[in-house]
Parts: sequence; structure tokens; C-alpha cells
Amino acid sequence: DKGNHRHFMEKEIYEQPEVISHALSHYVDFADHTVKPADAAIDFKNLRGLAISACGTAYLAGLVGKYWFERYARLPVEIDVASEFRYREMPLSPDQAALFISQSGETADTLASLRYCKDSGLKIGAIVNVKESTIAREADAVFPILAGPEIGVASTKAFTCQLAVMASLAIAAGKARGLITPADENELVRHLAEMPRIMSKVLNLIQPQMESLSRELSRFKDVLYLGRGTSYPLALEGALKLKEISYIHAEGYAAGELKHGPIALIDENMPVIVIAPHDRFFDKTVSNMQEVAARGGKIIFITDEKGAASSKLETMATIVLPNVAEIIAPMVFSLPIQLLAYHTAVFMGTDVDQPRNLAKSVTVE
Ligand code: F6R
Repeated sequence: DKGNHRHFMEKEIYEQPEVISHALSHYVDFADHTVKPADAAIDFKNLRGLAISACGTAYLAGLVGKYWFERYARLPVEIDVASEFRYREMPLSPDQAALFISQSGETADTLASLRYCKDSGLKIGAIVNVKESTIAREADAVFPILAGPEIGVASTKAFTCQLAVMASLAIAAGKARGLITPADENELVRHLAEMPRIMSKVLNLIQPQMESLSRELSRFKDVLYLGRGTSYPLALEGALKLKEISYIHAEGYAAGELKHGPIALIDENMPVIVIAPHDRFFDKTVSNMQEVAARGGKIIFITDEKGAASSKLETMATIVLPNVAEIIAPMVFSLPIQLLAYHTAVFMGTDVDQPRNLAKSVTVE
């Protein structure tokens, strides 16, 4: 049932504040602002490293998770798409653990990567939406994302719930490893607790602008997304979402890679979507944006209030989100990229919930 929404994808985008709140309540204690200890099957305290693998959007969630596990838990993370991971013959040892992220819990390559790690003696964690799935059954610890059924082929609420679960796990791991003080833990959990309300506010705030901007975007054949830090995987996710449902060619790049190739493509026919909250990377990303502007590139700037106030560059559009804590920025900044892809596809008249050639669950290699 789509409720009052035109598509399941739209419904699932708007459900995010509610499902994230539900997911978080499984991992954090809202009353005393602490994280619950992670499933004891994975001994985060004594781990030497983490291997993460997944496909598509779930893989991009894992890429964001890598930044968090490294930053908050000082755990080195090895991550690859499952179709490569399973064949790499990577040396692994039992003092590492492996995390597999899958909405369906049935993705063939992800399952094969899980079995490879299991054979190497690693403890297995599964971040899944479908708790009865094969990946969940074969894992030592199951971390449900509790997003509820996701019908739209393009993943939206599963992505942000995967992020919320990994943020909580990274904090729990950092705590177990003695790296996060109670005061830091409290502050991080307070930010997570605020997130559902902020997401609702952002959804209402940006909806009209996303709809009108999508009309402009639909005129282009190619779009480039740029970001740094955790906004880099978001750039990849923005490009994936746009291409899979609108069929507009889109690429995501780490902003610093611009001058190593893609800058050759910049002209007035390829808009560049820059994802840049006012974080420690902001100035660097703005200087990449200047390089785009200097070559006549059209910029769609997705930033926050501080970011908007401190850049004077002319843009095709600036999307201004509220200033939010760094730990929740990836979830909040997912909203404009999802809505932009969604409205562009609707405007172009594609089959949004069932894009051509795609299946919701990829159970063959
Ligand atoms: C993109 C999308 C796919 C899936 C991928 C993995 O919007 O939905 O890229 O993320 O096929 O699927 P799961 O998470 O079921 O393993």
C-alpha cells in the first residue's frame, strides 16, 4: 500500500524519520544517551581489523561505515564490492571480523563473500533488513536494520537505516575499545536521537525545490557528483540513484580526483552536484567547485547554512540544509540526493519503482 504516495519509492523516502527512529531504538538507549553493547559474538574490543563487503547501495553504506569504524573505533577496514571480494583470495585472519550488508539478505555475491570469510575463521556480522534471510542465518551476529519492507527497487530507507546501524555499531566498538569517553558517547547519541526530527524537517523544507530542480536536471545527459570524506560515498550513491531510475548517465567522484581526469568533461552541458556540509573538508571541496566554475560548469551545491554563508560562488542551485553534527550528516544529506533522483525520474516518466533491467534481489552471480 502506497498510502498517499505516487510510488513506493516516495513512500519509503518519507518513511525514513520513523524507521530510523525505530532502528536506532534497537541500538541506543535514548533515556541515558548511551549505545547498547554490540552482540557479543563479535569481540570488537580485541579485533585487529574489519572486513566489509556488499553490493550496490549496500556497499556504499559500507564505505561510509569504513570512515566511522576507522575514526571512532580505530579499526582498520578492508572493504570491497562482493563480486570482487569473493575472488580476491585476500589473506584474512581470525583476529579480524567481517560485516556483510544486505537489504534482502539473499545477494549471491555477498553470500559467497560471507562464506569465504567464514572458511577463514572470521566471526561474521550481518547487517540485514530481512531477518529470516540466508545471510542472516549464516552469520554469527545479526544486526537488523528494521526498515520494514522495501518495495521500490531503488534502495532508500534501507540505505539510511544501514547507516544508522553502522554509526551506532562504530560508537559501541569505540566504547568497547576504550576510545570513546562517556561524555563523547553521550554527545554522539544525543545527535543520533535528534536525527529523525531533523530528517522530517528537511524533507518538508526541500521538497518544492527538489521538484523544480528536477525539471532542469532532466534536460541533461550526464551528471557528475562530487564529495569528500563521508560525502564521497554519498556522491557515488547520488549517481547510482539517478542513473538507475532516471537513466541519466551519472558518475560520482571523490572531489580531489576531479583534476585527475573528470575535469576534462566539464562544460555547460554537464551539471556538477557538489555535496559539501561545512565539515573539515569544506574548503577543499569549495576549491574543487571553483575549478568547475572556472570552466563554465554548472553547479548544484548541496550544503548547510554555514556552508552556504561562506561560499560566494555562483551556482545553478544551492540546496541549504540545517547545520547538523558530523555523525548524522550522511543520513541527512541522503535526503536531497534521493529526492532529486526520484523527482527527475517522475518528471521523465520512467517506471520509478521497477526500473528497466533491475531486480530487487540479485540471487544469481
Ligand atoms: C540500488 C540497489 C542495489 C542494491 C544491491 C544490493 O538502489 O538497490 O544496488 O543495493 O543490489 O542488494 P542487497 O542490499 O539486497 O544485498
